[in-house]
Amino acid sequence: MRVAMIGTGYVGLVSGACFADFGHEVTCVDKDKGKIAALEGGEVPIYEPGLNDLVAVNTRAGRLKFSTDLPGAVAAADAVFIAVGTPSRRGDGHADLSYVFDAAREIAGALDGFTVVITKSTVPVGTGDEVEHIIRETRPDAQYAVVSNPEFLREGAAIQDFKHPDRIVVGTADATAREAMTELYRPLFLNRSAILFTDRRTAELIKYAANAFLATKITFINEIADLAEKVGADVQEIARGIGLDNRIGSKFLHVGPGFGGSCFPKDTVALLKTGQDHGSPMRIVEAVVAVNDVRKRAMARKVATALGGDLRGKTIAVLGLTFKPNTDDMRDSPSIPLVTALQDMGAKVRAFDPVGMEQAKAFIGDVTFCHDAYSCAEGASALVIVTEWEQFRALDFERLKAVMARPVLVDLRNIYLPDDVARHGFVYESIGRAQK
Ligand SMILES: NC(=O)c1ccc[n+]([C@@H]2O[C@H](COP(=O)([O-])OP(=O)(O)OC[C@H]3O[C@@H](n4cnc5c(N)ncnc54)[C@H](O)[C@@H]3O)[C@@H](O)[C@H]2O)c1
Repeated sequence: MRVAMIGTGYVGLVSGACFADFGHEVTCVDKDKGKIAALEGGEVPIYEPGLNDLVAVNTRAGRLKFSTDLPGAVAAADAVFIAVGTPSRRGDGHADLSYVFDAAREIAGALDGFTVVITKSTVPVGTGDEVEHIIRETRPDAQYAVVSNPEFLREGAAIQDFKHPDRIVVGTADATAREAMTELYRPLFLNRSAILFTDRRTAELIKYAANAFLATKITFINEIADLAEKVGADVQEIARGIGLDNRIGSKFLHVGPGFGGSCFPKDTVALLKTGQDHGSPMRIVEAVVAVNDVRKRAMARKVATALGGDLRGKTIAVLGLTFKPNTDDMRDSPSIPLVTALQDMGAKVRAFDPVGMEQAKAFIGDVTFCHDAYSCAEGASALVIVTEWEQFRALDFERLKAVMARPVLVDLRNIYLPDDVARHGFVYESIGRAQK
């Protein structure tokens, strides 16, 4: 099939490259000329494992193209995906749908022959109706069907997730659109991936329900961790003890400095707004958002406690800035409020991240960026692990001790065992476990 992917970001580029890899002819469109020029020059503008190769192979095979010409790509397409951003709207937290609606208007003007228009962006329930309406208003003669096909890929494992999804959700009542969606995802049908056909509004709400549930799971274990600390229990054992129950499951029970990233924070808040608009308050999710909000800055107090309460004039080394490993995405990373809180408490911050440092510079200021964990630790009174990049899992403690002002490790991802760290003469503070 001929596919136009509107929006060539984390979702659009991965989805476009994967559809091309399935054998479809894909044009990834973006209004960001720099991004398209980079891609045309063989350069992938984001960090996502395996993406460089996937883009290169499919570009070479002629199945994957990049363009700023939206009308050209749409006119030639059987299926047009909307994969533009839906950030939080400034002021009220509703999903900002202006990019989606602008894209819908531009798409409408260029439709040629029956076309399936698919919303892959995460959009509040009812957005598909609005997209349909915009297209109808702009082009009363157009033949099209609007489908909801929310994306569940995780940054850092995006290609694997796209090609081996737990499920594909397709919301449409149109038989031709359903056939087109089946054709688009044919390799996954053959692999027996679960495909759930449903109505459009249900598909839209499935995405928010999924993200809110996962955010709730993370927040739940974080609160249990706080209680475990107070009562002398071990949250790692608790997570295992409950996670082995199949009804609960072990995933998303990892404690940390609070969820962040480009999806959970904005999607939980957007769901609250949808609930309010429909007189159906989401009290559980309200609590999740509130608990998570205060957690990030609270992590700075944990650092202060490890150092006897006062951070004034002390140097703190921060390892990991992106919201999770294997991505360069800094959007809503917990490291941002944490670094600010450390600075507010009078600390000087040094930081290192394996791939996110350039992006981080736009989000945090007055920080000394270093080239590895050991240079970052120089002169520091505490080393704080914020993001659990693989390379931080086997740090050389003797080397760290030699350069640090004090041997203190604050591990906000519980990637070390307290006894192991203590054996190296470090004060060790983690989450939901007794201090060593
Ligand atoms: N990032 C994730 O892990 C993830 C996972 C699942 C779903 N989502 C959802 O997918 C959507 C996209 O997220 P993302 O992280 O890829 O965003 P992104 O910001 O990385 O990419 C969006 C791209 O769309 C482009 N764009 C905006 N308006 C356009 C227009 N009219 N024409 C052409 N290009 C246009 C922007 O220039 C940008 O490059 C969001 O709704 C998000 O919630 C994201």
